[in-house]
Amino acid sequence: MNFELKSLDLAAASLQVCDALILLVPAGFKPGREPLSALIGQALKAGDLDSKAGKLLALYRPAQAKAPRVLLVGAGDGSPRQVRLAVNAALGALRTGTPVVKKLVLGFTLAPQAGAVRAAVQTVADNSYVYTTTKSKVEARSLVRVTLGLPKAAEAKAEFDRAAAAVAGIELAKEWANRPANHATPTDLAQAARALAKFPKISCQVLGPREVAKLKMGAFMAVAQGSDQPLRFIVLQYKGAPATEAPTVLVGKGISFDTGGISIKPAAEMDEMKFDMGGAASVLGVFRALGELKPAVNVVGLIPSCENMPDGRAVKPGDVVTSMSGQTIEILNTDAEGRLILCDALTYAERFQPQAVVDIATLTGACVIALGAVRSGLFSPSDELAQKLLKAGEAAQDLAWRMPLDDDYADGLKSNFADMGNVAGRAGGAITAAKFLQRFTAKFPWAHLDIAGTAWKSGAAKGSTGRPVGLLLEFLLAQQAPAKSARRKA
Ligand code: BES
Ligand code: MN
Ligand code: ZN
Repeated sequence: MNFELKSLDLAAASLQVCDALILLVPAGFKPGREPLSALIGQALKAGDLDSKAGKLLALYRPAQAKAPRVLLVGAGDGSPRQVRLAVNAALGALRTGTPVVKKLVLGFTLAPQAGAVRAAVQTVADNSYVYTTTKSKVEARSLVRVTLGLPKAAEAKAEFDRAAAAVAGIELAKEWANRPANHATPTDLAQAARALAKFPKISCQVLGPREVAKLKMGAFMAVAQGSDQPLRFIVLQYKGAPATEAPTVLVGKGISFDTGGISIKPAAEMDEMKFDMGGAASVLGVFRALGELKPAVNVVGLIPSCENMPDGRAVKPGDVVTSMSGQTIEILNTDAEGRLILCDALTYAERFQPQAVVDIATLTGACVIALGAVRSGLFSPSDELAQKLLKAGEAAQDLAWRMPLDDDYADGLKSNFADMGNVAGRAGGAITAAKFLQRFTAKFPWAHLDIAGTAWKSGAAKGSTGRPVGLLLEFLLAQQAPAKSARRKA
């Protein structure tokens, strides 16, 4: 989809040639002299329009505008959240109409608050996204061109560019996460990663079973051994800053399908375990956005990818494996496979001498119970790193919530037959999973994002959300040395 940013006051908005014109009317709107502005003023005064977020007034071929369909929509206090509600309501109303809207103009009637432009761009993208890859009758996205109009476009240019790049990344993440497991094998994911190397400053290396065996990634190999699909270990690098600057490493869980293995999952909703590579998809999405924005940062993306299958060769409950770190693990439950592939990727991350490592994983059902679909679980022993990630989540409207990591939570990981078990009972399951991972992170500042509840939606709207691409991108961009304009004295 094509986004453009334009300076538009209401007089200019009324002249826009498009299929539909949406105008956001926040509380505090003051009508001017132009006919369209006066019309909004009248509608507010008469009570036909309400500035409450999401309240709609639909107009058909009004004399005051060129657009055949004009939607006035209340935008509440104009905050990013209320703008999101407003844009969602307006697009929902347009979707039921025929003919379909191909060209949309979305106008802010007042200068937008910080974050509101991003909210508008992301909401339009989210709302109009359609998955088509494995459908024979392609009913592609109808919306092809979106013009975002605001009184002074230049003021929002940086935010707009970020939002547009985030959308490109989010949509790549959605695409790969949505693909069924037979169309998104570890080999397919590696191919998708390789395709990203066409962007400047991005390179990609893919390791297969032989290289991974040589690295002694015994935990990762144990998960992969039950599948006919060969594992892949993907190494993406984005070099936007001098080599002297330590990189940030992102590690994405890339289980292309999670049956649970021998500790097999129940049949109901097992299809959703195709989304178990949501962490990997978010890493691909972040690199797509970095390729677009070319910020001055260094980033490494690591994706251990395989299927978790039951088989004659599959790893069995009670088997003990040796991780790349040398620590041994008793695999008490083969369905706790995410931590097994991640622990070896975390050890591999040491070679980059990173300034920070963030892993992203659809790791535990327990995190879904704890936080639902609103906030991702954030775990980090570093207050500084945790605060940065929380802040990035707020800025990107891609929220996280910090969870505890007290050492007492690791008690249940004790094993009589290895250095640790891979599970610790049902209580506090999201935290004990994080405590397991923490044992492989002694050499760098580390954070873990459990996105089991936020990476996809179930039910009628089943599909990937593309989260947490927005959060991660914002976090990485904030690491850039401050730009000249930002250093200017206020
Ligand atoms: N991929 C799942 C986690 C998951 C489950 C995400 C449901 C979203 C919805 C993970 O590999 C898993 O199976 N975790 C187990 C861990 C348990 C065996 C300790 C879980 O959460 O049940
Ligand atoms: Mn599992
Ligand atoms: Zn899993």
